[in-house]
Amino acid sequence: MTRILVVEDSPTQAQEICLVLTAAGFEVEVAGDGEAGLQRLAERRFDLVVSDILMPGMSGYDLCRRIKATRATKDLPVILLTTLNDALDIIQGLESGADNFITKPYQANHLLERVQTILTHRALRSEGKLRVGVEIIFLGRKFTITSDKEQILDLLLATFEDMVRTNRELQSSQRALAAANNELETFSYSVSHDLRAPLRAIGGFSAALLEEQAERLDQRGRDYLDRICAATQRMGQLIDDLLELARVARGDLVRTTVRLGAMASACAAELVGRDASRQVEWNIATELRADGDPRLLKIVLENLLSNAWKFTRHRERARIEVGAIRRDGERVYYVRDNGAGFDMSLADRIFAPFQRLHTSQEFEGTGVGLATVQRIVHRHGGDIWAEASVGDGATFWFTLGEQENVGWEA
Ligand SMILES: Nc1ncnc2c1ncn2[C@@H]1O[C@H](COP(=O)(O)OP(=O)(O)O)[C@@H](O)[C@H]1O
Ligand SMILES: [Mg+2]
Repeated sequence: MTRILVVEDSPTQAQEICLVLTAAGFEVEVAGDGEAGLQRLAERRFDLVVSDILMPGMSGYDLCRRIKATRATKDLPVILLTTLNDALDIIQGLESGADNFITKPYQANHLLERVQTILTHRALRSEGKLRVGVEIIFLGRKFTITSDKEQILDLLLATFEDMVRTNRELQSSQRALAAANNELETFSYSVSHDLRAPLRAIGGFSAALLEEQAERLDQRGRDYLDRICAATQRMGQLIDDLLELARVARGDLVRTTVRLGAMASACAAELVGRDASRQVEWNIATELRADGDPRLLKIVLENLLSNAWKFTRHRERARIEVGAIRRDGERVYYVRDNGAGFDMSLADRIFAPFQRLHTSQEFEGTGVGLATVQRIVHRHGGDIWAEASVGDGATFWFTLGEQENVGWEA
């Protein structure tokens, strides 16, 4: 009968392994730590040791080393139980002379498969080989490995098999996550979309009431209606913004050379058209080009420039700048203004939907714009961040994951 010694400090885990191995017809004994394990090995003949790595007192590696260094047990195969969280686990296992790994949490059939493989290989192998140490450097540390070729191969194949399995599991959960995300996206899109119709009815009838029946209402009634109209408008804006946020995540990203400077100028002209009474000094690098999706980059500029426009409202001499600098071989675009600015310690928040650092009384808005901008920038493989101080303007920087020099020069 094949006799296996399990060295494991956790009684529950030991029991679990015992159940699996006993059910498969092995005779199993448990030792609660390395010392007890060595003691048992000195008293009886075993065919295999399965040991945990992290145990109080002697580690699994040390136990393995001791087994391999003892004449009577040097050919006894050792399987280590590991979580394989660290690349060093494998090397340390090799160095200690372990014959194989079982990664935790394991499935019963994998455990048995590996135990069987080790036992068959052991039987096939010729014994009494001379072991020569091989020195290797891994992650900057030196290790001496004395395991024989087959042993190393077994161990590496086992590890590889585990990695492939983990990778497969990871891929399938990624697919599930993408599907769930997609569903959520579609859901929020259709909810926002379907909210529009009833909202339009509320807005339309309130406006009609205000227009046709105003004289039948007293001041208070008219005031209520005014508020209903304003709230409907705000909600309409919110829905539009949410729809846009959902929309930028959909569709393919089509990269091409975008005349970013010209796009910014057009956007600025539109803002000026909305309120010609404002004095704003524009400084736009009109020849600026970028490599990105034109539809999406337009949304980026519209949002950043309308923010700059909005938050410079109280400046007598407002200044808004659009340009780019080169940093570490990468283009970094910026939109800068000398407006209200904000507290930098809160800068992380502004890219999350609905997060606003100013009240609606000070500056109107929904707080969705920068979330949309960030999503677009991330879809390009770029990054966005802000620099600001209260009362002293803000600068928004972003990159677009461009290849060096693609479409940069005018
Ligand atoms: N140019 C800017 N200057 C000062 N604060 C800004 C600027 N751009 C954005 N912010 C801050 O970030 C918040 C979020 O911006 P955004 O998502 O565009 O929402 P909204 O413009 O609807 O308020 C704003 O409410 C404001 O507090
Ligand atoms: Mg905005």
